[in-house]
Amino acid sequence: MMKNTQPEPWRVKVVESIRRIDRDAREECLRRAGFNVFGIASEDIYIDLLTDSGTSAMSDVQWSGLMRGDESYAGGRNYYRFEETVHTIFGLPHVIPTHQGRVAENLLFSTVLKPGDVVPNNTHFDTTRANVEANGGVAVDLVIPEGREPRTPHPFKGNMDLVRLDACLAENRGRVPMVLLTLTNNSGGGQPVSLENVRGTSAVCRKHGVPLIIDACRFAENAWFIKQREKGQGERAVHEIVREIFSLSDGCTMSAKKDGLANMGGFLALRDEAWVDRLKNKLILIEGFPTYGGLAGRDLEAIAIGLEEVLREDYLAFRVGQVTAFGEALAAAGVPVVEPIGGHAVYIDARAFAPHLPPEQYPAEALTIALYREGGIRAVEIGGVMFGKPDPERPGREILPALDLVRLAVPRRVYTNTHLEYVAEVTAGLRANPSALRGVRIVKQAPVLRHFTARFEPM
Ligand code: F0G
Repeated sequence: MMKNTQPEPWRVKVVESIRRIDRDAREECLRRAGFNVFGIASEDIYIDLLTDSGTSAMSDVQWSGLMRGDESYAGGRNYYRFEETVHTIFGLPHVIPTHQGRVAENLLFSTVLKPGDVVPNNTHFDTTRANVEANGGVAVDLVIPEGREPRTPHPFKGNMDLVRLDACLAENRGRVPMVLLTLTNNSGGGQPVSLENVRGTSAVCRKHGVPLIIDACRFAENAWFIKQREKGQGERAVHEIVREIFSLSDGCTMSAKKDGLANMGGFLALRDEAWVDRLKNKLILIEGFPTYGGLAGRDLEAIAIGLEEVLREDYLAFRVGQVTAFGEALAAAGVPVVEPIGGHAVYIDARAFAPHLPPEQYPAEALTIALYREGGIRAVEIGGVMFGKPDPERPGREILPALDLVRLAVPRRVYTNTHLEYVAEVTAGLRANPSALRGVRIVKQAPVLRHFTARFEPM
């Protein structure tokens, strides 16, 4: 049973039916999708933990905000409210709306990066890395060593390794247009970064005269962890912690599909004017006029309201508490999870879950397939399929990442504890007989971001 004593700070007003199709039908869905759960229709999914991105339930206030959408091409009123909200929360003066986070990344990198430039980060998310590389940059991950160890206890496993960052900036002088810092560190297990580490990262950046840009997707969850875990921060309001974090930065990229509590949207916010004109010109080319940036006016309204709701401390206590209780229920059933439990998701260490499968057989993909087959649950692989690269030294072989993880991402305000208890039960059932899991090989793949469309065959 999940031990979550913090009740939901809302009640349910609208429901959406979900159904669990039978096992034979699930097997057929897997076969048709080439054993890639991205290819399965969501109607055939029972509990969808593929992502916490764009999957939030909006509040009644956000839904009513949609009715106040001003769909003027230029200068719509929702833009001004959105801009004001971003100023108030983040303290950053220049705001550029985009239709999702990766467009903010793409705009920034395509404007600022030169081929051969180096971009350090605690850990790049997949789209972030792909956008750096697509613009000729080299993405370098400099998370602290504990951040790569699934079970080493540390309250802030998302922290940047400041010694290595300093060395990287010294070695690559003139070739680092910005340092990124991802809050929370999604690819490393949804692990937070401490305020002390944001201060330290900022100080190293200043010393080398390099701007610090925060990947702010889960800024509120990160600030909640700071309030809970960091010495001297427990008495501060979350919004004050947020203001301090961003006061240490030169800007941020944001996917409002996470801590914006919206189904679509994103933005780029910057302190300095230097890049703004070029960014806005490019925005007009690829997204739209700077007061809507690829979004409808009503979307901007929903994001502005979501950014305020996400900072409510009763919401954050429930949100992070629910994910923690879910992870603890899995751990209690003997499932090897990344610890401490992250903010938006529970990550299963698939190499420990199914030690008979070598990394070359993508154990996290194998577990993802089994979760759907056994329970109609959709999770996502964050491991060899997502990050594996051809090995130039060994033709036909791959350089594989240090971890093979299965992420069970929890959408915001969507599933009850009972849903998550069901997921924990199904996973525990698989754990009781891990040798039944079969590895996979890739039979078809795209040259970039292959995990979305790859097709597999069981070994
Ligand atoms: N940065 C981080 C840390 C992310 O987690 C994501 C998206 C993005 C950037 C890109 O934002 O999707 O709005 O373009 N993460 C989603 C996920 C897709 O499932 O973790 P986007």
